[in-house]
Amino acid sequence: MATTTRMFCFVLVMVLMGCCCSAKIYKVGDSKGWRAKHGSYHEWAKRKEFQVGDSLMFEYDGNVNDVTQVSSRLEYQFCNSLSPKAVYNTGHDVVTLTEPGYHFFITSNHSQCVAGQKLVVFVVHDHPMIPPPPPPRKILSFGKDYKVGDSNEWRVPEESDFYSKWSEEKQFHVGDNLLFYYNDQVDDVLEINSDLEFKSCDTISPVAVHNAGQDLIRLTKPGIRYFITSKIGHCEAGLKLRVVVRPLSKSVPKKMQLSPFDRFIKWLRDSFTPHPHH
Ligand SMILES: *[C@@H]1O[C@H](CO)[C@@H](O)[C@H](O)[C@H]1NC(C)=O
Repeated sequence: MATTTRMFCFVLVMVLMGCCCSAKIYKVGDSKGWRAKHGSYHEWAKRKEFQVGDSLMFEYDGNVNDVTQVSSRLEYQFCNSLSPKAVYNTGHDVVTLTEPGYHFFITSNHSQCVAGQKLVVFVVHDHPMIPPPPPPRKILSFGKDYKVGDSNEWRVPEESDFYSKWSEEKQFHVGDNLLFYYNDQVDDVLEINSDLEFKSCDTISPVAVHNAGQDLIRLTKPGIRYFITSKIGHCEAGLKLRVVVRPLSKSVPKKMQLSPFDRFIKWLRDSFTPHPHH
């Protein structure tokens, strides 16, 4: 019975996909194309849902730019085009997104990239109606990405405790990333050192300043990290984030659950065996 239902759903999905969900081609930057426009590709990509099979079309002046696909967020963040995954340079490139996950595009023209000519897209599987199988629960899974504030992103929240709630609901570990998305004309991300500075929204001696409008901050060691904005009044209104970073949990297999009786037997054996085997 359940199998029949599942078969039916599967067939239904296939039919729906066949007739409605053909691959799309997105022109990057719409009419502006692919050129340095600070922060705008984030805005452009934000409202779209990319699926496996969709394509990105890059239109630009091939004399001063190209499309350099890089493998990692760090290369993307630092406009590092030294070891690209792929380079396109015809001035009219169509790149098909063949895998789910993050895809990073920059231009190898460094000044243009730094000025904002870079794009990250997140691609989902093209089977939206079939829930993906749950990922294997690896304790040592490395590097989870957290978009700070989720859909609110990094801006003054309606409730002043929004970011503390957001943070408390989660368990951050070494290796995870915080992604700050915000309007760089309004806010920035200052990292500060102490709880005192955090409480008083003290911007005087930050340990790091980020202001690209789209920043990735890697949590590299256990401890507490504090982030605020330098915009007057915004931190006081709740635009501040405190994150507790836990060490990587060791992958110790769970002890077998013993019944009270078994435990008693084990206790007896352990107590009366002179050299217990382990
Ligand atoms: C980078 O882009 C700028 C502005 O379009 C251009 O003037 C410059 O020649 C480009 N640099 C390279 C190496 O293509």
